[in-house]
Formats: sequence, C-alpha cells, structure tokens
Amino acid sequence: MLENSSSSSQRLTVITCTAPVNIAVIKYWGKRDEELILPINSSLSVTLHQDQLKTTTTVACSRSFQEDRIWLNGKEEDINQPRLQSCLREIRRLARKRRSDDDPSNDISLSHRVHICSVNNFPTAAGLASSAAGYACLVYSLSRLFGVEGELSGVARQGSGSACRSMYGGFVQWKMGEREDGKDSLAEQVAAESHWPELRVLVLVVSAERKPVGSTSGMQTSVKTSQLLKHRADSVVPGRMEEMISAIQKRDFATFAELTMKDSNQFHATCLDTYPPIFYLNDISRRVISLVHRYNQHYQETRVAYTFDAGPNAVIYTLQEHVPEFVQAVRHFFPPETNGGEFVKGLSVDSASLSEELKRAIGMEPVPKGISYVISTQVGPGPCVVEEPNLHLLGPDGLPMKST
Ligand code: DP6
Repeated sequence: MLENSSSSSQRLTVITCTAPVNIAVIKYWGKRDEELILPINSSLSVTLHQDQLKTTTTVACSRSFQEDRIWLNGKEEDINQPRLQSCLREIRRLARKRRSDDDPSNDISLSHRVHICSVNNFPTAAGLASSAAGYACLVYSLSRLFGVEGELSGVARQGSGSACRSMYGGFVQWKMGEREDGKDSLAEQVAAESHWPELRVLVLVVSAERKPVGSTSGMQTSVKTSQLLKHRADSVVPGRMEEMISAIQKRDFATFAELTMKDSNQFHATCLDTYPPIFYLNDISRRVISLVHRYNQHYQETRVAYTFDAGPNAVIYTLQEHVPEFVQAVRHFFPPETNGGEFVKGLSVDSASLSEELKRAIGMEPVPKGISYVISTQVGPGPCVVEEPNLHLLGPDGLPMKST
C-alpha cells in the first residue's frame, strides 16, 4: 500500500490488485435468493491464469474524496448499483468489526470515500464473463485497503455468484450451503494451481452477431419455468460434484472431460427447457462440439473436452501433449483470415500437421473465419497485490490515469 500526497495535500492511500477469470466445469445456474445471491446447486470451476486473462483494479481512499466513485474500462459507472453497494457495505462492515475486535493498526478511516478504477486485459468483445474477475478483484482490493483478512468469497458472491470462485486459484468449488443467511454459501479450493500442470485451456472466441440474454435474467426465467433445472439441481449435480472432485484429485482426464461436457450440455438443455427458450450456442458452437467428439472418437480416447457459458464461445480443456494437433484441427476446420493478426494468443503452441486420416475421420466442411482467435492458457493462481507502484490506475489526484 502506498501513501501519496494529492494536490490538495490530503493523504491518499492507494492499492492495486489483480484477479482471475474462472470457467465452470459444473455450472451454477439458478438462485434461491436473489438478494444474497444464493444458488440452487453447488458448482465447480477452474481458475484461468492471469498472464492471459485478468482484471486489474486500483482502489484509493482519501479524506478529500466527496463520494464513492467507480470507473470501469475507462468509463465512469453508477456506484449505486445494488451489487456494488452490497460489496462496499460488506467490506466496510467487516473492517469495522475487525477494528472494534482488536487491531487499531490500520489507520484508514472508514468514513473516507473510495475511488475505484478497473480494467480487463481482454476485450469485452471476447464475450468472456468479466463479472467474476471484476467483483473478485473489487472485493480483494477493498479488503487489502481496509485491512480485512480471512474468508471473503461470501462478499464476492454478493457481487456476482461466479465471482466467489475467482477468489481462489486452481480448482474451486462453491458449496451452495443450507442457511438462509448465506453464511455457509462459500467457495473453497479443491486443489491448488500446481496440482495438474499438464492441464491446458483454449478459449475459442466465436464471432457472434447478437448479444445473448444475460446470465442474471436468464437464470431467473429458468428457475421459474424449467422442471429440468429443478431435476438437475436436486438429483444430478450433487453426485456430479463428488465425481468431479475425485476425478480432479486423481488427475483422471477422461472422467474430468466427460463430466465437463455432460454438464455443459445439461446446462444448455435447461436453457432450451426454459420458457421461452434461451439459446446460447450458435452454429459454430455446435460445430466445435462435433469436432471434439469426432476427434475423441478417432483416437478412441477422450483427449479434449468443451464447455460453454452464457454465450457461443467454446472453452476447451485438454492435456499439453494434445494441444498442437487440436489447435491445428481448429485452424483447419475454421480457417482464419490470412491477414487477421495472430490466430493463437497467449501461451505459445508448437506447430503440428494433421494426418489425412484424421481430417477424413472428422469429415466436416471447413467454415472460414468461424472462430476469430484462440486464447491459449492454463490453470492459475487467485487474486494478488500488484507491488510496483507505477502500475496504479488512479493518479495522485485520485482520478484515472490518462491511459486507462
Ligand atoms: C453460465 O455469476 O454471471 O457462467 O450471479 O447473476 O451474477 P449472477 O450470475 P453469473 O452466472 C454465471 C453462469 C455461468 C455458469 C458458471 O459460471 O457457473
């Protein structure tokens, strides 16, 4: 944490943190309490590495600030949104509690207003849920600013359900909990990011024409209308959570991959069972599904898995040894624009060739430019503090730096 002098010579305390994106392999879909954001089923996700995908947030606090303010990706937003207010209120409450309990060392006044500035290192157009990384980063940064320690996933959850899982690295479960006050609806690490070093993640960014239905309203309609969702939450997910945790602990890729694909398919089936139905997958998404199944079928082994959230992008899980060939298959069946910039971003991928036999076995007509680009990444750590002071997004005056 840094203390600066602002132009009005009021002390400014500032801190910058980063937080990761997570991609669920057992999906969260449906709330039993809209306000506290309590889910109807537990879920489990993989935290993606921040070298490729992350949110960075600077929070600053000063006696001279008149009001709480927030800037997201360069634009000032309404700080009065209920979910932002829940997170701010909860962190201030925890800070107050901690201070009255014991520690007078943190001298930041709780009556001071905060300025928040947040950016993603990936384009919003990539269609990746940025709310999880965004709220995780907000809550983590505020907790460091106010000197709050301990369990914070319950606060991040009140920003966006999936954000609670971005509070940890590696493999993370969100236990739905039973209590009405939500105190037991928390995220918990199942295995650390170092647990399965061969696991790789490829985000296939599909060019979409339309903006899909948001997850908050989509899941509300599903809870109201889908009987399949109720069956899934009550009778399918509990067993699947146990099987998934055991597959991760054993690093059993085939089981992990099959459960991941089945759970994604069931989530999208509940969307179709919603009335009126919600369509997140498009034609390219469905072709990716076929490609994966035909690829696995050819090798008589489950080498690759797909999963889809509330949009058409595919997230692929595979093992390091299969990445070059599978990426080549993606390049072959979705030929990119020749001068459209690099097709594979992130972790470098060795080149590979496809056998005629494999191309024949997949047997799909190539769809030019069906996939805009691929982000190649891996499992990564949870939120962290940025130590270099020159990376703050807010300047000494407490306002966004020009570049943000
Ligand atoms: C399909 O966490 O975005 O990505 O709690 O309303 O903010 P709110 O919803 P959100 O929903 C994520 C849904 C999902 C599945 C998942 O990440 O588990």
